[in-house]
Amino acid sequence: MAKRGPTYICQACGAVYHRWQGKCDSCGTWSSLSEEAQAAPVPGARGSSGKARGRVFALESLKGDTQDAPRIVSGISELDRVTGGGFVPGSVLLIGGDPGIGKSTLLMQACAALALSGRRVVYVSGEESTGQVRLRAERMGLADAPVDLAAETNVEDIIATLGQGNRPALVVIDSIQTMWSGEVESAPGTVTQVRGSAQALIRYAKTSGACMILVGHVTKDGQIAGPRVVEHMVDAVLSFEGEGAHAFRILRGQKNRFGATDEIGVFEMTGKGLSEVTNPSALFLAGRDQAAPGAAVFAGIEGTRPVLVEIQALVAPTSLGTPRRAVVGWENSRLAMVLAVLETHSGLKLGQHDVYLNVAGGLRVNEPAADLAVAAALVSSLSGAILPPESVYFGEIALSGAIRPVSVAAARLREASKLGFEAALMPSGGADHGDGGGLSLRRFGHVTELVADIAA
Ligand code: TYD
Ligand code: MG
Repeated sequence: MAKRGPTYICQACGAVYHRWQGKCDSCGTWSSLSEEAQAAPVPGARGSSGKARGRVFALESLKGDTQDAPRIVSGISELDRVTGGGFVPGSVLLIGGDPGIGKSTLLMQACAALALSGRRVVYVSGEESTGQVRLRAERMGLADAPVDLAAETNVEDIIATLGQGNRPALVVIDSIQTMWSGEVESAPGTVTQVRGSAQALIRYAKTSGACMILVGHVTKDGQIAGPRVVEHMVDAVLSFEGEGAHAFRILRGQKNRFGATDEIGVFEMTGKGLSEVTNPSALFLAGRDQAAPGAAVFAGIEGTRPVLVEIQALVAPTSLGTPRRAVVGWENSRLAMVLAVLETHSGLKLGQHDVYLNVAGGLRVNEPAADLAVAAALVSSLSGAILPPESVYFGEIALSGAIRPVSVAAARLREASKLGFEAALMPSGGADHGDGGGLSLRRFGHVTELVADIAA
């Protein structure tokens, strides 16, 4: 067995070193290494006889054993959509998000909904007293829900508590960073403790069949703080996002063993907790200034659902030596690429201009299909020509300037038609969409055609 010296663990990413150093090679954070006792061996693992444990099964012999995982449906449809149709018994879900974004609120609502349907639900708070949790529930009008509350931070005590009474269907741990296990010799909050606590809780979920939700804090750059390792240990990772100034919040699946990962759920924070937003496009397009140049509506897809969102660009002469490029809600590198394509193929002069790009409403768009809407918004802002407000845009731009077809165009067109749009500016290749659901389809093969169209 390897010699056990002191171990230094990066508190940001969980990388392990045998010697102290100033900077973590793995994540680049400075002064994040701290000395921790080596993680204790998993209790029970040592006693393994090694004989009958590692049995193999023929895959087909397990048929019927594991048909569709049964689901615990919360009834909060935006939440069930992201989990892939409800919580799976025996699974562990990690939900991350900035402080104050509404994680505790969302989970209390889910707990209350399940408790009211007759299941045993336990909400363990390591951050707030039971009184505080109750106050929040009262504010949301859920004070009568039969949820079991506990203010506890020691995982062994929690697991013992869970063992009393009926087997819980759902257990919420708020948050994993506040938990500590007596079997791990490290201070609470350290990576070793968080990992050790998570291991114990995950083992409990797997053996008892309860669904376990762990709340995780996130760091400045949006990583779930402390152990990335916990992300690998759980079945699903969800992140709860939102812009401080906006009331709405987006729950996004980042990893999900039981469902699609790119699904989003949209909520609005109200005075009485989170309410579901079933038509996000209408929300993202609300308050749109149709008569200003630099705005284009992008027909996007989030998970399985089409979402329309306004892309805003501002192209203004710069007073700096190096012009500014600032992006909110989209990728910087993608903007740089679209700008380069426009300069090279359409002769647009952007080198003396600052460029600002914003996805309205605080949504983060990840699709290359937004290229065409971005290009249209940029050209519109630069030229001062207002884009037709009843049009939507989608299409990917290649480095050659060609506009390439994108997936699920039909759903994008349907959503645009449903919301009263009249035209779609889209790639010339791809499927034939017939009458386009009542939209007039204007197809473009190259960015030069788009630029000429906007200038005309
Ligand atoms: P919370 O769920 O405590 O956030 P987190 O657990 O992610 O840290 O929510 C905190 C914010 O939500 C707080 O600033 C107040 C606001 N809030 C409302 O606006 N309405 C409500 O009904 C509730 C319960 C909270
Ligand atoms: Mg909280």
